[in-house]
Amino acid sequence: MRHFTSVYDLPSLTEAIKMAREIKNNPFGHQHLGKNKTIVLIFFNASLRTRLSTQKAAMNLGMNTMVLNVNQDGWRMESELGVIMDGDKAEHLREAIPVIGRFCDIIGVRAFADLEDREADYAEKIINQFIQYSGVPVVSMEAATRHPLQSFADHLTIEEHKKIARPKVVLSWAPHPRALPQAVPNSFVEWMRHTDYDLVVTHPSGYELDPFFMGDIEVEYNQDKAFEGADFIYAKNWSSYTKYGEILSKDLNWTVTAQKMALTNKAKFMHCLPVRRNMIVTDEVLDSSSSIVVEEAENRVYSAQTILKLILEGLL
Ligand code: CP
Repeated sequence: MRHFTSVYDLPSLTEAIKMAREIKNNPFGHQHLGKNKTIVLIFFNASLRTRLSTQKAAMNLGMNTMVLNVNQDGWRMESELGVIMDGDKAEHLREAIPVIGRFCDIIGVRAFADLEDREADYAEKIINQFIQYSGVPVVSMEAATRHPLQSFADHLTIEEHKKIARPKVVLSWAPHPRALPQAVPNSFVEWMRHTDYDLVVTHPSGYELDPFFMGDIEVEYNQDKAFEGADFIYAKNWSSYTKYGEILSKDLNWTVTAQKMALTNKAKFMHCLPVRRNMIVTDEVLDSSSSIVVEEAENRVYSAQTILKLILEGLL
């Protein structure tokens, strides 16, 4: 049984992008695949796009969908093994996961990093328990260290908008009032490294990502220099990996502005959303024709639908 937690789970990235484009042109062409099949979507964290796009993708394939917001709709869940459960957590994942697996054919899971213990977060304890105990294919809807459905949609969006074979794509850190996980930038870099794009990563000192994800990608610490000649600007905040979970800067000089966009090659502006206006990016940029964030969000449907289709066909 195959699961989808990263780009490495795809048989072919090129074929997956091609399939996503075909699905976008004909979203209801495979409704027979999901007949009498059910997907359960489990959310340990809030969501707008992932929840609705994955539900929409499943419905486009003719599947039934059920959603559980853990800790709100259900019992509070214990995830650690070997503990005495004398607190407010009434159920253990060890039983809950196989029970959920008996109710469905595929499980989607969202479980963010808690940003307290790097080793625990990077061990992906929650999603790995779903993989181990559910008995059905598991799809990551953003885990502690990766957000593969987002990165798939990002890649699809760049493919649709690129004007040259090898565009310059810049991942830029931007300020945010709260500490956010590294899942989106980790995953974005990982997917971009599977392309032939010219990837540049820019952030203030102290925000270096896990070398496992960065590989041989070098950091350009001067944001203006990074933006020069760029075809795509992908803005995102993340907390420090080295000083794990800490906010080291809220410097608004890193906000993406029209002046910075003027340094680029008429770049398209991208962000996974939700985005903090006038922290990450100014109103002027977000409301301009260079912003493709809504199309990028729409592509979440087709990236999710491609993955579900591959699973239903037994091809993942
Ligand atoms: N980009 C994204 O995953 O959005 P949500 O957190 O709203 O699902």
